[in-house]
Amino acid sequence: MAAETATSDPFLRDLWYMPALASSLKRGDMRREMLLGEPVLLGRNHAGEIFALRDICPHRGVPLSAGRIKPDDSVECPYHGWRFGKDGVCNAIPSLVPGQDFDPHKVKVRTYAVREQDGLIWVYMAATPGAAPKSEPPRAGVSHKMRWTEIQNFRCGIDHAAIGLMDPAHGPYVHNHWWWKKTPRVKEKHYAPLPNGFVMTRHKPSKPVYALLGDVQTEITFELPSTRFEILSGTLMGMPFRVVGLTVCTPRDADNTDVIQVFYWPGWLNFIYPFFWVLGRTFIGDDRKIVELQREGLKFNPNLMLIQDSDQPAIWYHRVKKAWAESVENGTAFVNPVQERTLRWRS
Ligand code: FES
Ligand SMILES: [Fe+2]
Repeated sequence: MAAETATSDPFLRDLWYMPALASSLKRGDMRREMLLGEPVLLGRNHAGEIFALRDICPHRGVPLSAGRIKPDDSVECPYHGWRFGKDGVCNAIPSLVPGQDFDPHKVKVRTYAVREQDGLIWVYMAATPGAAPKSEPPRAGVSHKMRWTEIQNFRCGIDHAAIGLMDPAHGPYVHNHWWWKKTPRVKEKHYAPLPNGFVMTRHKPSKPVYALLGDVQTEITFELPSTRFEILSGTLMGMPFRVVGLTVCTPRDADNTDVIQVFYWPGWLNFIYPFFWVLGRTFIGDDRKIVELQREGLKFNPNLMLIQDSDQPAIWYHRVKKAWAESVENGTAFVNPVQERTLRWRS
């Protein structure tokens, strides 16, 4: 099965990407965050607001993130001290002397729309640089604190990272740990379309470890560009609860993708923390190691296969991606190609 997108840009635009946790950026700090192969200055001013600029000084190309945020919240380039507001407009060129007729405000560096919510920072990667967002980033839909975070860099493009997280057949091989494995058996899961992806609808999870949470059901969503929510809901000792996990694949460039996972749960469920502490890192690490091994084959540019139901989520991923890329390119409405369906596989 061919897995091509409509354009030569390997990344989907007009979507929100999540490069960083909000707690990682203090007031008065800024840094370079690579996103979709573009250098993005991500900063937080002294008032606590986040902002994002193209991390290239329009004067002579020095990364603005290597400068500093001045007390007036302008970003000062470390080369000749040009200063930029969070709107990207240059508001000072120190080398100008009175009588020299050049208006700094004519100089502008590209800005990116940003949002801070649920303890996360989202950056909108517009198809037209600087264009206003056509959507809002996804919400975790919980009031609980973020209790668990894990970030690992996968040395692969976003597609293999994303598919590696949604493919159900690798479990018994990649996550072959005594505390997790169960004799493979036939599974049957129902899937339905979502606005920008699809969902494995609510069901009772089969792994014994979920029994810790009493009577629990899970629902797993996937939406573009690579946002996966796992929503566990149940009742424990008569108390209803929700545990929400969010996993995103954030492409730094064509060959590097950060997999960022965060979990939210209510404080009284904190007894599950040790399980995350012991297992959380291992799990994503398993997925990271297998894509690293996969590189050893992919460098010879082989043809690949996607077959039958266990590869259907990956097939949908490619179809949804292609439909999105075409809708952005043609300026037409996105039509989700996913149809409701039950998938069966052994894992
Ligand atoms: S390169 Fe930035 S001010 Fe000259
Ligand atoms: Fe996995």
